[in-house]
Amino acid sequence: MPLVSMSNIEAFEDRLGAAVRAGDAGDFEIVGYGEITIAVRLTTADGDFVCKRLAPLSSRASAEGFADAIAQYIDALHACGIDVVETETRILESDGCWVLYCVQPMLTPGSLGPDFLRGKSAQEAAPHVRRIFERIRGSVTPTLAPDGQLSNWAFEGERLRYLDVGTPFLRDDEGNQLCDFTEITRALPRPVAAVVARFVLKGILDNYHSLRGQALDFLGNLIKEGLGDIFPPLIPMANEVFELSPPITEAEVRAHYKSDAQTYAFIQAARRADRWIHRNLLRKPYPYLLPPRIERSA
Ligand SMILES: Nc1ncnc2c1ncn2[C@@H]1O[C@H](COP(=O)(O)OP(=O)(O)OP(=O)(O)O)[C@@H](O)[C@H]1O
Ligand SMILES: [Mg+2]
Repeated sequence: MPLVSMSNIEAFEDRLGAAVRAGDAGDFEIVGYGEITIAVRLTTADGDFVCKRLAPLSSRASAEGFADAIAQYIDALHACGIDVVETETRILESDGCWVLYCVQPMLTPGSLGPDFLRGKSAQEAAPHVRRIFERIRGSVTPTLAPDGQLSNWAFEGERLRYLDVGTPFLRDDEGNQLCDFTEITRALPRPVAAVVARFVLKGILDNYHSLRGQALDFLGNLIKEGLGDIFPPLIPMANEVFELSPPITEAEVRAHYKSDAQTYAFIQAARRADRWIHRNLLRKPYPYLLPPRIERSA
């Protein structure tokens, strides 16, 4: 039994695709803006789902290749003991492009990592964070990596669930990426995509395949989530679980976060400029939805 029927998802894409092209998704409940994905709620007679609309791809073959990579990624994560939220991929043709959706059941409010840890002291949060660290430690290899950030995990009763499978960090033994990420960077303005592909992408991807990179990302991201108070006391645990040598320090986490925030701000500024050019000079609809400006905690 599919989670969501094909006709339901087609009707959904008709509306959402049009809203994206018009640059106004006011009628939708957007549960998450990724760098390239938007996650939107879909309510059906069978329950509530999250439909993640990945960047439109140029051909059916690349959409199918992407869906295959996502399926392999889920299997590989499962094999390392990660409890991945049930995920269905759907490919639709829309306005001359191929749109890939990842559909998942909507998780209970309050179970998502940041909500779950909000209001907890570092001491109270520590055992939960340790569980995440252990899952990361058990799955990161040169060929596989989860995106270990807190927002990609949910605490559902006894279960620790992982939900972010739209970017399959999978490489072969020679270090070649299984997915053509340059397809995804099409969402960026062309000169930026070229710079990202040439200078930034490999470094970003390498970071996921390293326990040190995962630790820095996880801890730095707590600042962005407004949980900056609890991260310094968690550093010794990160050093212990990931066996980091030399150990990471608070200064290193802050520097990592700052550089990540700068990259993100640069990309968002370039995308807003690109949207302005589309609308005002080219007089074409801008084909992506951009996240609202976010205030990052310092
Ligand atoms: N199944 C789900 N139930 C409830 N909320 C979800 C679910 N899946 C995703 N979300 C919310 O949407 C956010 C973004 O989803 P996800 O992490 O899958 O993609 P992303 O990080 O935006 O993608 P990208 O890798 O392109 O940056 C999550 O952090 C979470 O807050
Ligand atoms: Mg995510």
